[in-house]
Amino acid sequence: MPAAEGSLLEVGGLTRRFGGVTAVEDLRLRADAGQVVSVIGPNGAGKTTAFNCVTGMIAPSAGTIVLAGRNVRGLAPHRVAAAGLARTFQSIRLFEEMTVAENVLMGRFARDRGLLRPLARADLDAVRRCLDFTGLAGAADRLAGGLAYGDRRRLEIARALAGDPRVLLLDEPAAGANPTEKRALMELIAAISALGTAVVLIEHDVALVMSISDRVTVLEHGRTIAEGLPAEIQEDQRVIAAYLGVPDDPEPDLDAVVLR
Ligand SMILES: Nc1ncnc2c1ncn2[C@@H]1O[C@H](COP(=O)(O)OP(=O)(O)O)[C@@H](O)[C@H]1O
Ligand SMILES: [Mg+2]
Repeated sequence: MPAAEGSLLEVGGLTRRFGGVTAVEDLRLRADAGQVVSVIGPNGAGKTTAFNCVTGMIAPSAGTIVLAGRNVRGLAPHRVAAAGLARTFQSIRLFEEMTVAENVLMGRFARDRGLLRPLARADLDAVRRCLDFTGLAGAADRLAGGLAYGDRRRLEIARALAGDPRVLLLDEPAAGANPTEKRALMELIAAISALGTAVVLIEHDVALVMSISDRVTVLEHGRTIAEGLPAEIQEDQRVIAAYLGVPDDPEPDLDAVVLR
């Protein structure tokens, strides 16, 4: 079946088992051009594992992964990148001893295994564009290892953008950032989606998720317990009980249970 108009990422039936643990079970995820789609859920819910499967870093146990109409399941990560997908990591993975501009340049080559092609003027122009877009141009020649925390998070995104991805997966891009940095990062994410990129966001700050997302998927123990518009998710009793932290029912009175 051809991809629906505007649909850049279509994941269906995605399942990944680790021994006896089903980390991701029957996940359906769709992101259209210009959308921000968020995945939330407690630690261990399977969010990062889903990203690892979509990017080709680990093999799914089952499921389909279609990127811009093309089946990418089973492709090596650099081929998935070449098909138009980029990601950032939950724990920052920068090249600490390289400059900000050099880090972004490396992102440009993520789709070309082994850096075997010549550097072109277009690559340098793309680096400049990414630095301008992410507000890092002034830090271009600084070492990545010396940046403030929010700028390190920003640089991860700049490096991912360097390959001109059509789909961008962000794994907790604001984790550890202070409220000001968080807000700035969310504005950057909104700007990225406004350019037509499909963004899939993993983020724990529910207020931020609800304000930026077109749709939200909620995972618990690998299973999707809710999917919908932010307003629908906020009202969902299962989500409130499982994740938003307000119990559905008061604690059961154990003494009363025993007596009965
Ligand atoms: N490489 C792995 N080997 C074994 N178990 C794993 C591996 N990666 C993740 N898991 C397990 O899969 C589950 C989901 O983990 P993860 O995807 O990291 O969750 P989240 O990102 O939502 O916090 C957890 O139970 C975790 O221990
Ligand atoms: Mg994770």
